[in-house]
Amino acid sequence: MNRRAETAAELYTIAHSARSKRGELKNFEWLSQEAEQIEGENWIMFKAFLIGILIGVLLVAAGAWFYFTTGWAPVAVADPPMLLEKKLAHGALNARIGKDPHTDPAPVPLNEATYLAGGDVYKQNCAVCHGLPGEGKSNIAKGMFPKPPELFNGKGVTDDPAWETYWKAKNGIRLTGMPAFKETLNDTQIWQVSVLLANADKISPAVKAALATTPAAQPSLLPAATPPKK
Ligand code: HEC
Repeated sequence: MNRRAETAAELYTIAHSARSKRGELKNFEWLSQEAEQIEGENWIMFKAFLIGILIGVLLVAAGAWFYFTTGWAPVAVADPPMLLEKKLAHGALNARIGKDPHTDPAPVPLNEATYLAGGDVYKQNCAVCHGLPGEGKSNIAKGMFPKPPELFNGKGVTDDPAWETYWKAKNGIRLTGMPAFKETLNDTQIWQVSVLLANADKISPAVKAALATTPAAQPSLLPAATPPKK
Protein backbone atom coordinates (compact mmCIF):
# COMPACT_ATOMS: atom_id res chain seq x y z
CA MET A 1 0.00 0.00 0.00
CA ASN A 2 1.26 3.43 -0.75
CA ARG A 3 1.36 6.24 1.75
CA ARG A 4 -1.84 7.94 0.52
CA ALA A 5 -3.87 4.81 0.81
CA GLU A 6 -2.59 4.22 4.37
CA THR A 7 -3.56 7.74 5.42
CA ALA A 8 -7.02 7.34 3.91
CA ALA A 9 -7.52 4.07 5.80
CA GLU A 10 -6.44 5.69 9.08
CA LEU A 11 -8.76 8.64 8.50
CA TYR A 12 -11.57 6.26 7.76
CA THR A 13 -10.98 4.37 11.05
CA ILE A 14 -10.87 7.60 13.05
CA ALA A 15 -14.10 8.86 11.49
CA HIS A 16 -15.79 5.54 12.15
CA SER A 17 -14.84 5.45 15.82
CA ALA A 18 -15.89 9.10 16.27
CA ARG A 19 -19.34 8.27 14.89
CA SER A 20 -19.79 5.36 17.22
CA LYS A 21 -18.59 7.44 20.20
CA ARG A 22 -21.20 10.06 19.29
CA GLY A 23 -23.84 7.30 19.26
CA GLU A 24 -22.75 6.15 22.73
CA LEU A 25 -22.87 9.71 24.02
CA LYS A 26 -26.46 10.11 22.77
CA ASN A 27 -27.46 6.88 24.45
CA PHE A 28 -25.87 8.00 27.66
CA GLU A 29 -27.71 11.33 27.60
CA TRP A 30 -30.98 9.59 27.00
CA LEU A 31 -30.36 7.16 29.87
CA SER A 32 -29.45 9.87 32.35
CA GLN A 33 -32.57 11.88 31.44
CA GLU A 34 -34.64 8.77 31.96
CA ALA A 35 -32.99 8.17 35.36
CA GLU A 36 -33.69 11.71 36.47
CA GLN A 37 -37.32 11.37 35.54
CA ILE A 38 -37.65 8.09 37.48
CA GLU A 39 -35.94 9.65 40.49
CA GLY A 40 -38.38 12.55 40.37
CA GLU A 41 -41.37 10.19 40.21
CA ASN A 42 -40.06 8.15 43.16
CA TRP A 43 -39.68 11.25 45.26
CA ILE A 44 -43.26 12.30 44.50
CA MET A 45 -44.50 8.82 45.45
CA PHE A 46 -42.51 8.89 48.67
CA LYS A 47 -43.97 12.28 49.59
CA ALA A 48 -47.50 11.03 48.87
CA PHE A 49 -46.80 8.00 51.08
CA LEU A 50 -45.64 10.21 53.97
CA ILE A 51 -48.68 12.48 53.63
CA GLY A 52 -50.91 9.37 53.63
CA ILE A 53 -49.38 8.15 56.89
CA LEU A 54 -49.78 11.58 58.46
CA ILE A 55 -53.44 11.79 57.46
CA GLY A 56 -53.99 8.25 58.84
CA VAL A 57 -52.48 9.15 62.22
CA LEU A 58 -54.52 12.36 62.41
CA LEU A 59 -57.75 10.50 61.58
CA VAL A 60 -57.14 7.89 64.31
CA ALA A 61 -56.36 10.62 66.86
CA ALA A 62 -59.47 12.58 65.84
CA GLY A 63 -61.58 9.40 66.09
CA ALA A 64 -60.29 8.62 69.59
CA TRP A 65 -60.87 12.21 70.70
CA PHE A 66 -64.44 12.13 69.34
CA TYR A 67 -65.09 8.74 71.00
CA PHE A 68 -63.97 9.93 74.44
CA THR A 69 -65.48 13.42 74.37
CA THR A 70 -68.94 12.67 72.97
CA GLY A 71 -70.08 10.03 75.46
CA TRP A 72 -69.41 6.89 73.46
CA ALA A 73 -66.73 5.45 75.75
CA PRO A 74 -68.03 2.96 78.37
CA VAL A 75 -67.71 4.50 81.82
CA ALA A 76 -70.70 3.06 83.73
CA VAL A 77 -70.22 -0.29 85.46
CA ALA A 78 -72.86 -1.96 83.29
CA ASP A 79 -71.40 -0.68 80.00
CA PRO A 80 -69.82 -3.38 77.84
CA PRO A 81 -66.02 -3.54 77.87
CA MET A 82 -64.13 -1.56 75.23
CA LEU A 83 -62.80 -3.38 72.18
CA LEU A 84 -59.81 -5.52 73.29
CA GLU A 85 -59.92 -3.90 76.76
CA LYS A 86 -59.73 -7.15 78.69
CA LYS A 87 -57.06 -8.69 76.47
CA LEU A 88 -54.83 -5.62 76.49
CA ALA A 89 -55.26 -4.98 80.22
CA HIS A 90 -54.43 -8.57 81.17
CA GLY A 91 -51.53 -8.69 78.74
CA ALA A 92 -50.12 -5.46 80.18
CA LEU A 93 -50.57 -6.71 83.77
CA ASN A 94 -48.86 -10.04 83.08
CA ALA A 95 -46.00 -8.33 81.25
CA ARG A 96 -45.54 -5.91 84.17
CA ILE A 97 -45.62 -8.67 86.81
CA GLY A 98 -43.23 -10.74 84.70
CA LYS A 99 -40.60 -8.01 84.96
CA ASP A 100 -40.38 -8.15 88.77
CA PRO A 101 -38.53 -10.86 90.75
CA HIS A 102 -40.49 -14.10 91.21
CA THR A 103 -39.91 -15.00 94.86
CA ASP A 104 -40.37 -18.75 94.96
CA PRO A 105 -40.82 -20.43 97.38
CA ALA A 106 -42.67 -17.84 99.48
CA PRO A 107 -40.62 -16.56 102.45
CA VAL A 108 -43.20 -17.75 105.05
CA PRO A 109 -43.59 -21.29 106.40
CA LEU A 110 -46.49 -23.21 104.82
CA ASN A 111 -48.25 -24.28 108.00
CA GLU A 112 -51.54 -23.88 109.88
CA ALA A 113 -50.35 -20.81 111.79
CA THR A 114 -49.54 -19.01 108.51
CA TYR A 115 -52.90 -19.93 107.00
CA LEU A 116 -54.77 -18.76 110.12
CA ALA A 117 -52.87 -15.46 110.08
CA GLY A 118 -53.54 -15.17 106.34
CA GLY A 119 -57.23 -15.84 107.03
CA ASP A 120 -57.29 -12.91 109.45
CA VAL A 121 -55.69 -10.61 106.90
CA TYR A 122 -58.18 -11.85 104.32
CA LYS A 123 -61.28 -11.29 106.45
CA GLN A 124 -60.20 -7.78 107.32
CA ASN A 125 -58.98 -6.61 103.92
CA CYS A 126 -60.19 -8.79 101.08
CA ALA A 127 -63.45 -10.54 101.96
CA VAL A 128 -65.59 -7.45 101.35
CA CYS A 129 -64.82 -7.76 97.64
CA HIS A 130 -63.58 -11.31 97.12
CA GLY A 131 -66.09 -13.09 99.38
CA LEU A 132 -65.81 -15.84 101.98
CA PRO A 133 -66.11 -19.62 101.51
CA GLY A 134 -69.75 -20.56 101.02
CA GLU A 135 -71.04 -17.00 101.00
CA GLY A 136 -72.38 -15.15 97.99
CA LYS A 137 -71.07 -11.94 96.50
CA SER A 138 -71.25 -8.80 98.62
CA ASN A 139 -73.16 -5.75 97.38
CA ILE A 140 -69.83 -4.10 96.66
CA ALA A 141 -68.62 -7.04 94.58
CA LYS A 142 -71.90 -7.12 92.63
CA GLY A 143 -71.57 -3.47 91.71
CA MET A 144 -68.01 -3.48 90.39
CA PHE A 145 -66.43 -3.53 86.94
CA PRO A 146 -64.36 -5.54 86.48
CA LYS A 147 -65.84 -8.03 88.97
CA PRO A 148 -63.59 -9.16 91.83
CA PRO A 149 -63.24 -12.96 91.42
CA GLU A 150 -64.39 -15.12 94.33
CA LEU A 151 -61.09 -16.36 95.70
CA PHE A 152 -62.58 -19.21 97.79
CA ASN A 153 -65.06 -20.37 95.18
CA GLY A 154 -63.92 -22.58 92.32
CA LYS A 155 -60.22 -22.50 91.58
CA GLY A 156 -59.80 -18.86 92.69
CA VAL A 157 -56.08 -18.19 92.28
CA THR A 158 -54.93 -21.69 93.23
CA ASP A 159 -53.64 -21.98 89.66
CA ASP A 160 -51.38 -18.94 90.15
CA PRO A 161 -48.06 -19.05 92.00
CA ALA A 162 -48.15 -17.27 95.40
CA TRP A 163 -45.71 -14.58 94.21
CA GLU A 164 -48.20 -13.48 91.56
CA THR A 165 -50.96 -12.99 94.14
CA TYR A 166 -48.37 -11.31 96.41
CA TRP A 167 -47.55 -8.85 93.61
CA LYS A 168 -51.24 -8.05 92.98
CA ALA A 169 -52.08 -7.58 96.67
CA LYS A 170 -48.98 -5.46 97.25
CA ASN A 171 -49.21 -3.24 94.16
CA GLY A 172 -52.91 -3.37 93.34
CA ILE A 173 -54.35 -3.34 89.80
CA ARG A 174 -54.91 0.15 88.52
CA LEU A 175 -58.40 1.18 87.29
CA THR A 176 -60.03 -2.04 88.50
CA GLY A 177 -60.83 -1.32 92.15
CA MET A 178 -58.22 -3.84 93.32
CA PRO A 179 -56.33 -1.84 95.99
CA ALA A 180 -52.59 -1.85 96.67
CA PHE A 181 -51.87 -2.96 100.24
CA LYS A 182 -48.20 -2.06 100.43
CA GLU A 183 -48.90 1.00 102.57
CA THR A 184 -51.30 -0.78 104.93
CA LEU A 185 -50.09 -4.38 105.32
CA ASN A 186 -46.54 -5.53 106.01
CA ASP A 187 -44.70 -7.95 103.75
CA THR A 188 -45.33 -10.94 106.03
CA GLN A 189 -49.07 -10.29 106.08
CA ILE A 190 -49.21 -10.02 102.29
CA TRP A 191 -47.27 -13.30 101.94
CA GLN A 192 -49.53 -15.00 104.52
CA VAL A 193 -52.69 -14.13 102.63
CA SER A 194 -51.02 -14.97 99.28
CA VAL A 195 -49.99 -18.50 100.28
CA LEU A 196 -53.42 -19.03 101.85
CA LEU A 197 -55.07 -18.14 98.53
CA ALA A 198 -52.62 -20.24 96.51
CA ASN A 199 -53.67 -23.21 98.67
CA ALA A 200 -57.34 -22.27 99.08
CA ASP A 201 -58.40 -25.67 97.69
CA LYS A 202 -56.59 -27.62 100.41
CA ILE A 203 -57.08 -25.63 103.64
CA SER A 204 -57.97 -27.50 106.85
CA PRO A 205 -61.43 -27.43 108.46
CA ALA A 206 -59.95 -25.30 111.27
CA VAL A 207 -58.87 -22.58 108.83
CA LYS A 208 -62.22 -22.80 107.03
CA ALA A 209 -64.00 -22.42 110.36
CA ALA A 210 -61.88 -19.40 111.24
CA LEU A 211 -62.75 -17.81 107.89
CA ALA A 212 -66.44 -18.55 108.43
CA THR A 213 -66.70 -16.66 111.73
CA THR A 214 -68.23 -13.22 111.34
CA PRO A 215 -65.55 -11.13 109.70
CA ALA A 216 -63.82 -9.42 112.60
CA ALA A 217 -63.18 -6.52 110.32
CA GLN A 218 -66.62 -5.49 109.18
CA PRO A 219 -67.26 -3.09 112.11
CA SER A 220 -63.78 -1.61 111.83
CA LEU A 221 -64.31 -1.01 108.11
CA LEU A 222 -67.03 1.47 109.03
CA PRO A 223 -66.20 4.93 110.33
CA ALA A 224 -66.15 4.91 114.16
CA ALA A 225 -69.13 7.27 114.40
CA THR A 226 -71.48 5.07 112.36
CA PRO A 227 -73.55 2.81 114.59
CA PRO A 228 -73.11 -0.81 113.49
CA LYS A 229 -76.04 -1.99 111.35
CA LYS A 230 -77.41 -5.52 111.44
C1 HEC B 1 -62.44 -2.94 96.85
C2 HEC B 1 -62.48 -4.29 96.35
C3 HEC B 1 -61.29 -5.19 96.52
C4 HEC B 1 -60.61 -5.49 97.68
C5 HEC B 1 -60.86 -4.95 99.08
C6 HEC B 1 -59.60 -6.45 97.31
N1 HEC B 1 -59.68 -6.72 95.96
FE1 HEC B 1 -58.55 -8.06 94.93
N2 HEC B 1 -59.49 -7.55 93.22
C7 HEC B 1 -60.54 -6.67 93.12
C8 HEC B 1 -60.96 -6.59 91.74
C9 HEC B 1 -62.06 -5.74 91.20
C10 HEC B 1 -60.16 -7.51 91.03
C11 HEC B 1 -60.24 -7.84 89.54
C12 HEC B 1 -59.18 -7.10 88.79
C13 HEC B 1 -59.11 -7.48 87.32
O1 HEC B 1 -60.09 -7.97 86.77
O2 HEC B 1 -58.04 -7.29 86.75
C14 HEC B 1 -59.25 -8.08 92.00
C15 HEC B 1 -58.31 -9.03 91.66
C16 HEC B 1 -57.51 -9.68 92.59
C17 HEC B 1 -56.60 -10.73 92.27
C18 HEC B 1 -56.35 -11.32 90.88
C19 HEC B 1 -57.29 -12.48 90.65
C20 HEC B 1 -56.97 -13.24 89.40
O3 HEC B 1 -57.82 -14.05 89.00
O4 HEC B 1 -55.90 -13.07 88.83
C21 HEC B 1 -56.03 -11.14 93.44
C22 HEC B 1 -55.01 -12.25 93.62
C23 HEC B 1 -56.58 -10.31 94.48
N3 HEC B 1 -57.48 -9.43 93.94
C24 HEC B 1 -56.22 -10.42 95.80
C25 HEC B 1 -56.72 -9.60 96.80
C26 HEC B 1 -56.28 -9.68 98.18
C27 HEC B 1 -55.26 -10.67 98.71
C28 HEC B 1 -56.96 -8.72 98.85
C29 HEC B 1 -56.85 -8.37 100.30
C30 HEC B 1 -55.54 -8.20 100.87
C31 HEC B 1 -57.83 -8.06 97.88
N4 HEC B 1 -57.66 -8.61 96.66
C32 HEC B 1 -58.70 -7.02 98.19
C33 HEC B 1 -61.10 -5.94 94.13
C34 HEC B 1 -60.69 -5.97 95.45
